Amino acid sequence: MHKKLLIPGPTEVSREVLEEQTRYLIGHREKEFSTLYGGITDKLTNFFQLTADIKPTITTGSGTLWFDIVARSVVKQKALACVNGAFSKRAAQTLQACGKETDVLDVEMGKAIKADAVAEKLENGKYDTVTVCHNETSTGVCSPIKEIAQMIRRDYPEVILAVDAVSSLAGDKLIPSEIGCDIIFASTQKCFALPPGLAVGLVSDRAIERAKTVPNRGAYTDMVEMFEFEKKHQTPFTPNVSLLYALDKRMDLLLAETYERVYQRHLNMAKYTQEWAKKHFEMFPEPGYESVTVSCINNTQYKNVKALNQQLADRGYLISAGYGALADKTFRVGHMGEWTVECIQHVINMIDEIWDLKSN
Ligand SMILES: Cc1ncc(COP(=O)(O)O)c(C=O)c1O
Repeated sequence: MHKKLLIPGPTEVSREVLEEQTRYLIGHREKEFSTLYGGITDKLTNFFQLTADIKPTITTGSGTLWFDIVARSVVKQKALACVNGAFSKRAAQTLQACGKETDVLDVEMGKAIKADAVAEKLENGKYDTVTVCHNETSTGVCSPIKEIAQMIRRDYPEVILAVDAVSSLAGDKLIPSEIGCDIIFASTQKCFALPPGLAVGLVSDRAIERAKTVPNRGAYTDMVEMFEFEKKHQTPFTPNVSLLYALDKRMDLLLAETYERVYQRHLNMAKYTQEWAKKHFEMFPEPGYESVTVSCINNTQYKNVKALNQQLADRGYLISAGYGALADKTFRVGHMGEWTVECIQHVINMIDEIWDLKSN
C-alpha cells in the first residue's frame, strides 16, 4: 500500500502533478523549452513578489547543490556559517570542503540563530558571506531571518547573506525583498510538493556581482554562468525537463491558491500539530521559534515511533523519527506541501488511537 508522506521531505506529491512528468521531452535549446522555462521563472517572480533586483533560477540538483554554489561562487575570503542543527552543519562543512575559510557560530540544537549572536561574530571577524538555515529540518527550529538580514544590511552592507530555506520556501512567509537576503534556496521535494531533483534559487544582483569577482567557481556551481543563461530562459547544462513540467503545474496551483493562503494553510497545520504535541509531549524547539512546516516533538513519553509507523503504514501513512543525534529523543511530523489541516487532524486522530493518548 502507498504510504502518504507526513515526513519533512520528500512530501506527498499529487497524482495530477506526478502525471505532468509523463509528457514528451523537448530539446533544452529549443524555443519551446525557453517558453516553458521562462514561464516558470515568471511564475516564481509573481509568487515570491520578486523585485527587479532579485532573479529566480532553477537548478537540476537538490538543495545541497546550493551549499556548493554559495561556497564556490559567493565566498571570496571568509565565511561565517551559523550552525544550529544537522543541515546548517552540513552547509558549514561544505564551505570548508570547498576550501573556503569558514568560522562557525555554534548554537545549541533546538535554539534559533539570533541577530545579536550573528552581530557579535561579525563585529569580531572579517566575513564576506554569512550562511543561515531558516528552517532547521533536523530540529524544527525556525530562525528570525528578517532580523538577521536587516542587521546585516544595515551594519555590514558588503556581506552577502545566503539562506537555506530548503524546507520552508513556498510554505512559510519568505518574500526575499521584505527579508533583505541575497540568496534563498529550496529543494522541490519539500513545500513545493514535487519529486526531489530540482532546487529553486532566488538571487540578488548584488550576489551575482559578487560572484563575478570570485575565481574558480567550477562549472555546475558557477552562478555567473547560470544567470547568463537565464537571460535566454535556458540553463547552462541539460535540465530535468520532466520535473520542470511538474514545477510549472505546481506554480499554477500555488498561484491559484495565493501566497497568503498557502502560508495560512501551513500555519494552521503547524498550530494544530503543535497544540496536540504540547498536550501530550513537549516541543523540541525553544518557544517562539517553532517551524510552520515541520513539528519536532520531544518524545517525553518514550513512545515507540518505529512501531507507530508500522501501524500507520497499514493505514497508509508515514511520519518521521528524529534526525541524527535526535533520532530517539524526538519525532517529527512534516506538514508541508499540499497537506491540509483536515488531513493532519485525521492522521493525528490515528496516532491518538494507536498510542492511546486520548485517555491520558
Ligand atoms: C534545511 C535543509 N537543508 C538542506 C537539505 C538538503 O537538501 P537536499 O536533500 O534536497 O539536497 C535539507 C534536506 O532535508 C534540509 O532539510
